[in-house]
Amino acid sequence: MTTDLLRNDMEKILFTAGEIQTRVEELGDRLAEDYRGKNPLFLGVLKGCFVFMADLMRCFPQPCSMDFMAVSSYKGGTSTTGAVEITKDLTRDIEGLDVVIVEDILDSGVTLNYLRDYLSFRKPASIRIATLLDKPERRRAPVTADYCGFTVPDEFVVGYGLDYGEKYRNLPYIGVLKHEIYS
Ligand code: IMP
Ligand code: MG
Repeated sequence: MTTDLLRNDMEKILFTAGEIQTRVEELGDRLAEDYRGKNPLFLGVLKGCFVFMADLMRCFPQPCSMDFMAVSSYKGGTSTTGAVEITKDLTRDIEGLDVVIVEDILDSGVTLNYLRDYLSFRKPASIRIATLLDKPERRRAPVTADYCGFTVPDEFVVGYGLDYGEKYRNLPYIGVLKHEIYS
């Protein structure tokens, strides 16, 4: 493989591609048990979810469907502004469906708290949350994940879908960004 030109921007690697793959398979197994005989809708929160969701769904060998929403609360910075705006809505009716929201990271919880309320109005049979990463120290809204890949410390992380200013989403691993990159 050629040189990873983005590696230099990392303070440290938290999870390698292999570690992530192993964990995602475990989550897929749990989902497969919990949703046996059902036909869940995996609802990804763009853009950060896209790598995790692609891998997670391929570890779920049962009938399911998918949709995406996009919300924005960050406006490009490293912490939430508190206001959530839906920039891409559902493309289908979710009434009576078992919805699994798929997120890259649960941070303040503001986004998922808002989204869960918003989706409840549409009367799904159930709503659960699957997040790759959880940063519990930063929680401001009462949200807990039903499926969580890894708990991370209060540091800004990128890779495997997660970005800083739209960069680093393509990294196969998850790393902590050097402070000097965003300060
Ligand atoms: P929350 O509303 O604060 O929970 O924000 C969740 C969203 O913020 C995630 O879906 C990410 O897009 C973004 N986010 C929060 N923490 C990080 C981080 O450490 N790296 C990259 N994106 C993050
Ligand atoms: Mg996100």
